[in-house]
Amino acid sequence: MKRIILFASGSGSNVENIVRYFEGHPAIEISGVLTNKRDAFVIDRCNRLGIPVLYFNKSGFAGSSLVLQVLQCMNPDLIILAGFLLKIPSELVAAFPKRIINIHPALLPKFGGKGMYGKHVHTAVKAQGESETGITIHFVNEHYDEGAIIRQFKVGISERDSVDQIAAKVQSLEHKHFPEVIEAILLDT
Ligand code: GRF
Repeated sequence: MKRIILFASGSGSNVENIVRYFEGHPAIEISGVLTNKRDAFVIDRCNRLGIPVLYFNKSGFAGSSLVLQVLQCMNPDLIILAGFLLKIPSELVAAFPKRIINIHPALLPKFGGKGMYGKHVHTAVKAQGESETGITIHFVNEHYDEGAIIRQFKVGISERDSVDQIAAKVQSLEHKHFPEVIEAILLDT
């Protein structure tokens, strides 16, 4: 079996969608979810779904090799950032080359970088009067949102769309495409 570890610190709708997609999969399984937010809703979802969750604080992440050692023990085939905001320390990037991916709710390289997450992204997209937005699935390197792009998917938006409507369109793209892209990466198809 190929093993996935997810990092998440928010609501976890992508985590839930990915877990459900791979339930009973013959070749891919979810080993667990790591989070740096003790009160993140993703933990409630995992409790409901029966998925193991591990919490770590900032010192366990960037300040020591705790998370790195946990990951090395678990030896995942793919580490997926699904709504995880901390920057990934360079030791971790180096330990898992081409094995860490992120999903960004816009068409990188536009609307990326530090501070560009959640509503901030969709507000900026609307303010720029864009006619389309979308999602970017990319490898993770030491810089926010700058790793090599794996796949992008687009959706049209109009100036009548509110920020919430843009967010909903992007979220439905994420739920539709992210699991399939993960599967293709892991099965090398
Ligand atoms: C998604 O929009 C994803 O693109 C971004 O963080 C958000 C996570 O949403 N990286 P959720 O917690 O999965 O609902």
